[in-house]
Amino acid sequence: MDVTVVDHPLARARLTTLRDERTDNASFRGALADLTQMLIYEALSGAPVADVEITTPVATMTGAKLANPPLLVPVLRAGLGMVEQAHAMVPESNVGFVGIARDEQTHQPVPYLESLPDDLSRTPVFVLDPMLATGGSMLHTIELLVGRGAVDITAVCVVAAPEGVSALAESGHPVRLVTAAVDDGLNDNAYIVPGLGDAGDRQFGPR
Ligand code: PRP
Ligand code: URA
Repeated sequence: MDVTVVDHPLARARLTTLRDERTDNASFRGALADLTQMLIYEALSGAPVADVEITTPVATMTGAKLANPPLLVPVLRAGLGMVEQAHAMVPESNVGFVGIARDEQTHQPVPYLESLPDDLSRTPVFVLDPMLATGGSMLHTIELLVGRGAVDITAVCVVAAPEGVSALAESGHPVRLVTAAVDDGLNDNAYIVPGLGDAGDRQFGPR
């Protein structure tokens, strides 16, 4: 599986804000939006473009547009903090939604929402979720997408655990990962270490 770690100094600075337990919810949401911009920029770096003929105030020329804008799929709740910024960067995109809450005892994903187009066979998909821990939530989302024919999936995550990266790689699904960090591992509660805590709670409060 292709894994891209965005290691730009600005990305590292915003990620440090997210990791710091002193960061309040509003500042966390701001830093997450900033970092999402960098991750989406990188995720689109190889995207195909189509020619567009335009006329500038001075001359005619051939410009470019995204040939096939990705469907953006935030995984609720935490992915909601990424979708507005991602959509602002790619206004051509459509948006689907998946809702999953991890069971804190079993660490298994519990899905509660699915709003996706029926046919994704010709659409690249960007799944937006800040955290890739065991990989259970991301794999569930990927299986929903593959079930609709998706063959080009990008997981856009802020922090990944090696366990989650392995789970995606071993799934055999057509997925690549763009992230700002691959951390050390998981603790006994399946939280990423050092991580940044609970990405949903840190944006929206406890559920
Ligand atoms: C978090 C996170 C991922 C999931 C990652 O969501 O946003 O969706 O956990 O864990 P996994 O890789 O082990 O599945 P959570 O279930 O806490 O829900 P929330 O976003 O509503 O807080
Ligand atoms: N979900 C989170 O929000 N954080 C983790 O570290 C693991 C799962």
